Amino acid sequence: MIRAFVIGHPIAHSRSPLIHGTWLSTYGIAGSYEAIDVIPEALPALIARLRAGEFAGGNVTIPLKEQVAGLCDRLDPLAETIGAVNTLVVRNAELRGFNTDFMGFLGNLDQNAPGWSADLDEAIVLGAGGAARAVLVALRERGIGTIHLLNRTLDKAQALAAAMGNTVHPAPLDAFARLAPRAGLVANTTSIGMHGTGFAGLALEHLPKTALVTDIVYVPLETPLLACARALGLRTVDGLGMLLHQAVPGFEAWFGVRPEVTPQLRALVEATL
Ligand code: ATR
Repeated sequence: MIRAFVIGHPIAHSRSPLIHGTWLSTYGIAGSYEAIDVIPEALPALIARLRAGEFAGGNVTIPLKEQVAGLCDRLDPLAETIGAVNTLVVRNAELRGFNTDFMGFLGNLDQNAPGWSADLDEAIVLGAGGAARAVLVALRERGIGTIHLLNRTLDKAQALAAAMGNTVHPAPLDAFARLAPRAGLVANTTSIGMHGTGFAGLALEHLPKTALVTDIVYVPLETPLLACARALGLRTVDGLGMLLHQAVPGFEAWFGVRPEVTPQLRALVEATL
């Protein structure tokens, strides 16, 4: 039986076992996918079990995504750029690390806003943490010419922009109103929107009527940012699809079937939020 895992700490609330477990039964695969609570000190021992052949691979979540990158034999170039690994695959006795968050971001928008990147010249990314890196890599993949990276702490936006190349332009959050009229996409990568928080004074009304607003936060499913965008008649895509789509490449690598993100799967996961 092929076994896979999700490791992190805490791990009890991870939706990954539900996602992968649903796919295992949908495709009739005799495999397992389990959540294992692993603290940073225990990571080397878990990796030793993986190398010994107990598992085909697994997902990695907070707080292990950066640490695990240093334990892989080989990193996918995009995992290296993002600086974090969320998917591990053992192949030919080699431990390989991938980051599928950027594919989750693209898969979500491709499914829920088809054609979104076709005529997109300028985008605004909110936040400059780990999640912002994956979103910037995704937008770079699609050849978006100008990306404004807005962050509360300007220093962090400047450092990340410098690391990402010359299409990324750092700015403070209050530059939003000035930049909005030319932006076709706004992506929130910060944790704002969780626990009743919201952006103060983000002038969404300055966006073009055709703009798309998306959020990586999925609890709540409709963040205040998305609610405001919807009230203005803008297109919105919530963050749940990113969680579902980032799981696709791992499942395919471990179990040999490329799984589909269906409305039924989404509804199952949505019911647990
Ligand atoms: P992750 O790796 O999940 O992206 P992170 O590295 O802690 O998490 O980054 C969190 C991001 O959310 C940062 O861009 C942070 O802004 P700062 O760099 O100024 O800290 C942003 N963020 C979190 N809480 C915020 C708040 N209340 N207001 C504005 N930005 C916030």
